[in-house]
Amino acid sequence: MALDEVGSAAAEGGVLDPHGPVARVAEDLWWLMFWLGLAVFVLFAVLLALGLWRRRGDDVPRDDEEARLTRWWLVGGGVVLPIVGISVVFAATLAGMRDTPTEASAAADGALEIELVGHQFWYEVRYPEAGVVTANELHMPVGRPVVFRLTSRDVIHSFWVPALGGKMDLIPERENVLVLQADVPGRHVARCGEFCGLSHAHMELVVVAESDADFETWLSGIGETGAPTGDEAARGEEVFASADCIRCHGPAYGVPDDGQELAGPDLTAMARRASLGAGVLENTWDNAAAFIRDPAEFKPGVDMPANDLSDEDLAALLVYLGYDR
Ligand code: CUA
Repeated sequence: MALDEVGSAAAEGGVLDPHGPVARVAEDLWWLMFWLGLAVFVLFAVLLALGLWRRRGDDVPRDDEEARLTRWWLVGGGVVLPIVGISVVFAATLAGMRDTPTEASAAADGALEIELVGHQFWYEVRYPEAGVVTANELHMPVGRPVVFRLTSRDVIHSFWVPALGGKMDLIPERENVLVLQADVPGRHVARCGEFCGLSHAHMELVVVAESDADFETWLSGIGETGAPTGDEAARGEEVFASADCIRCHGPAYGVPDDGQELAGPDLTAMARRASLGAGVLENTWDNAAAFIRDPAEFKPGVDMPANDLSDEDLAALLVYLGYDR
């Protein structure tokens, strides 16, 4: 994968190219408002032109007649027209809300639950049923509603996948629920929709919508990922502990204790993720090495400190984390 394919450049679909029912509702509303707005704009542009043209001549109505006409234009254009326009949009919005899946309707349709926890510039992704925890990459099956439980550890982000619709905040000490569904396989990118600090633009969550079979393969793959074996990996494990990586990231393999608060992303299967640092770098050996050395160079404001490791220790650490040279 080339660097320009990391993050949003590789996103499929968008607000006007919806890949799911929730996004389609929003798209329909958008077009309705666009055509209504355009119609009103054209109407008034024509009226303005007509008015200016008539002013030039001498056939302008006077006195009572003019006052009566003025009142009609004010009432018609300033009261009746907005009421009609807003009512149409309001009715369409209500209809759209009726077509938008809710937590209850999703549960009835066999929804999958995903917990999304916001952190300062990254996302923790939990699959409670499977007992899988990962970060910055979210996989979901197509054709099945997904109930997202959104919360945050230390900052407010806004979760938004343009191609799938919806936008909802991740707020500490509060759970917001958003139901989304992907109808076709695709690779999307969730943008943070709320300014959250220096790296607000550097926290892209890769969202992969895939077939049930591919999703199960991915999920069980993460669940079964174990540490590489060999002398270098063993040394890497020592570095992981002695350099204090373990304090924020938890164990590099396996699931952290339920309820354990991680300050840094879970690293299980990290080497297989599409990007590094939540969309800032292509996930390669060299980039991972550079990122571990000085994360702030790529991600301003990041909590992770720089690490002054020897070349050998860094290489061993990367082997332990599953990278190939
Ligand atoms: Cu997270 Cu803006």
